[in-house]
Amino acid sequence: MSTLIRGGTVVDAEHSYRADVLIAGERIAAIGEDLEVPIGTEVIDAGGQLVMPGGIDPHTHMQLPFMGTVASDDFYSGTAAGLAGGTTSIIDFVIPNPQQPLMEAFETWRGWAEKAAADYAFHVAITWWDESVHRDMGLLASEHGVSSFKHFMAYKNAIMCDDEVLVNSFSRCIELGALPTVHAENGELVFRLQKALVERGITGPEGHPMSRPPAVEGEAANRAIRIAEVLGTPLYIVHNSCIPALQAIARARGEGQRVFGEVLAGHLLIDDSVYRNPDFEFAAGHVMSPPFRPKEHQEALWQGLQAGHLHTTATDHCCFCAPQKAAGKDDFTKIPNGCAGIEDRMSVLWHYGVGSGRLTPSEFVRVTSTNAAQIFNLYPRKGAVAVGADADLVVWDPAASRTISAKTHHQNIDFNVFEGRTVTGVATHTFSRGLLAWANGDLRAVRGHGRYLKRPLGGDYVEANRRRTGAG
Ligand code: URP
Ligand code: ZN
Ligand code: ZN
Repeated sequence: MSTLIRGGTVVDAEHSYRADVLIAGERIAAIGEDLEVPIGTEVIDAGGQLVMPGGIDPHTHMQLPFMGTVASDDFYSGTAAGLAGGTTSIIDFVIPNPQQPLMEAFETWRGWAEKAAADYAFHVAITWWDESVHRDMGLLASEHGVSSFKHFMAYKNAIMCDDEVLVNSFSRCIELGALPTVHAENGELVFRLQKALVERGITGPEGHPMSRPPAVEGEAANRAIRIAEVLGTPLYIVHNSCIPALQAIARARGEGQRVFGEVLAGHLLIDDSVYRNPDFEFAAGHVMSPPFRPKEHQEALWQGLQAGHLHTTATDHCCFCAPQKAAGKDDFTKIPNGCAGIEDRMSVLWHYGVGSGRLTPSEFVRVTSTNAAQIFNLYPRKGAVAVGADADLVVWDPAASRTISAKTHHQNIDFNVFEGRTVTGVATHTFSRGLLAWANGDLRAVRGHGRYLKRPLGGDYVEANRRRTGAG
């Protein structure tokens, strides 16, 4: 089966150029002007449109069991929604319960993900420590293609890592050539602030951002960075939402440390006024951690993306419907934390990033796809428009518009944090390893089409860091 995408402008991380793209089976077979059409080839007219690497969302939580419930988008519905928006790969998280063997959790998530419609990889969270965790990290890294490990510095009495676990796990990552990642919030402070707020009678969603102020995030980001500096490991910080976290990253990078920053589409656009809305469903629909911040932080995050202190854009896609959010009706600390976004990230980044002149089209490709592929060792199989790469492609109409709404989105959630925004820049066709999974509004995602992506250890960044620090 072959497909020719004809007459478009290819945009990759470096530049834009007019070319046809020929897909044969699951791979890109040829790129060039006026390519011949082999017999039996389907032709897609991409005149006036862009052909880009499919998006990679490096931070999703499909069907995550969390805070007493389970995220409502599963690996099929969530990846299908991603395809509708031009995202062709995700990196999700295996999150073992404390004391649960890592391999057992990994096998559970692998089973859940078999229904995925798009390709997926896993970061594995380190939620506790003993000799078996040390051993299983090695097994996951050497046998199962896991080359990044996650550490939650928040969620005390659940999955939070203390400094001892961080130091043990970061050290193990160095031995293995794996990349540690952190959710940076000081969980001890969050716990204390939550308790104090509830005791003062502040039980509604407005208490959520009050319990997680920017300093709580900045402290944890800086602590993780300094632990990484002392040990000599590179570090990736997920969902940076505020100026103190950004400053910690910029400072470390200015000192030559290899720190990568991720930002969520939501944190770039939405401010904390949403939590003061008197409609509980609306306010609770925005409860996620870190929370949305006062407006000045959004501007700073855009600047961080432009300056190269932030490298990837993600969604932290973690859906909970209104009846699930209602668990926290009388106590904001019980509202399941998480928001959707996988379907809208690409459009939002194009509209507010490229449309406003903050990003060039190639910078858009870097922050939505290529950088994630390079940092997490998926490149050039993913994140590139290149002969031999997987045919994970999006045909993008930079002039088309759509209005985002929970009524029309494909995500399995009754709420959309971008509700009512009209964005210009729309995926007209999405290919997942050669399969046309989205065509002009027709979602043709195939359950189980997605494949698990094994990722190698090491890579350019890890190796460069090893040479610089001498660690490992
Ligand atoms: O609120 C969020 N972000 N929920 C998902 C878990 C996490 O912290 O990433
Ligand atoms: Zn998180
Ligand atoms: Zn997350």
